[in-house]
This record gives sequence, C-alpha cells and structure tokens, in this order.
Amino acid sequence: MYDWIKALHVVAVIAWMAGMLYLPRLFVYHAASELGSAQSETFKVMERRLLRAIINPAMVVTWLAGLYLVWAGHWLSAGWFHVKLLLVLLLTGVHGFLAGRVREFAADQNRYSTKFYRILNEVPTVLMIGIVIMVIVKPF
Ligand code: HEM
Repeated sequence: MYDWIKALHVVAVIAWMAGMLYLPRLFVYHAASELGSAQSETFKVMERRLLRAIINPAMVVTWLAGLYLVWAGHWLSAGWFHVKLLLVLLLTGVHGFLAGRVREFAADQNRYSTKFYRILNEVPTVLMIGIVIMVIVKPF
C-alpha cells in the first residue's frame, strides 16, 4: 500500500510542479500584453483553467498522499522531513500567491511587472530542488 500511495504522490507532485512552473511564465507574457486585447483574454482563460483543472487538484492530492506517507512511514520525527515540510509550506504559500494573481489578472488589475514574474518563476524551482534533495538524500 505504501508504495502505491508514494507512486500517486509523485504523479501528483509532477502535475503540481508543472503548473507551478508554467503559471508565472504565462504571467510574464500576460503582463506584457495590452489590456482588453484578444491575447490578454486568452491568457485569462489559460490561467484560470490551469489553476482550477491542474494546480489546485494536484496540490490537494500531493498533500493528502504526502500526509499518509508521513503517518504510515513514521517520518514525523525525521530531520529531513522537518526541512521538507518547511519548504512545502513555502511552496503552498507561493501557490496561494499565484492564485491571487490569477484573480487580479482576471479583473484587469495586475500590479506587477514582467521582471517581477520572471523572478517569481524561479522560486518554485529552487523550492523543488530543496524538497527533492531532502526526500531522496535525507541528509539528516
Ligand atoms: C505536500 C506535502 C508533502 C508531504 C507531507 C510529503 C511527504 C512525503 C513522504 C513522507 C514521503 C515518503 C518518503 C520515503 O518513503 O522515503 C514522500 C516521498 C516523496 N516526495 Fe513528498 N511530500 C510532500 C510534497 C512533496 C513535494 C512538493 C515534492 C516535490 C516537489 C515531493 C517529492 C517527493 C518525492 C520525489 C518522493 C519519493 C522519494 C522516494 O522515496 O524515492 N513531495 N513525500
């Protein structure tokens, strides 16, 4: 059972990360497009669908499967898990921030520059590298 849930966890992680890496990239292009243009309206649809159909459900499945693995594997007191949890909480915070930006773009009220979104685009990547090192290498 443990390995089946772990497989589900990794599949959900891949979907979550794919969306978390792609959404800020869409924002980079969206922030550069003219308000009210056909291009801007297309980005709104892409962002909403990506968030609702992929990113949100993948995050829920990742968390549920991950919490099962912590419980079943008795990982709660492991040092690597504490660091992983911190990084995953930060990633979840970034997720919430991105969801807020989808709502802002939908209302034509984006407040951030393309440069900001380019930098934001790197944050999930850095967190993902740390998370994978914790769970695979388990340095402590
Ligand atoms: C959302 C909260 C999360 C929790 C509570 C959680 C917890 C866990 C636990 C306890 C394991 C089992 C470790 C083992 O059996 O050795 C695991 C496996 C794994 N997790 Fe997570 N995880 C979460 C999110 C993530 C995220 C966001 C990523 C990647 C960005 C990730 C990547 C992995 C990978 C690659 C494995 C398989 C490691 C292996 O056994 O080879 N997890 N997770």
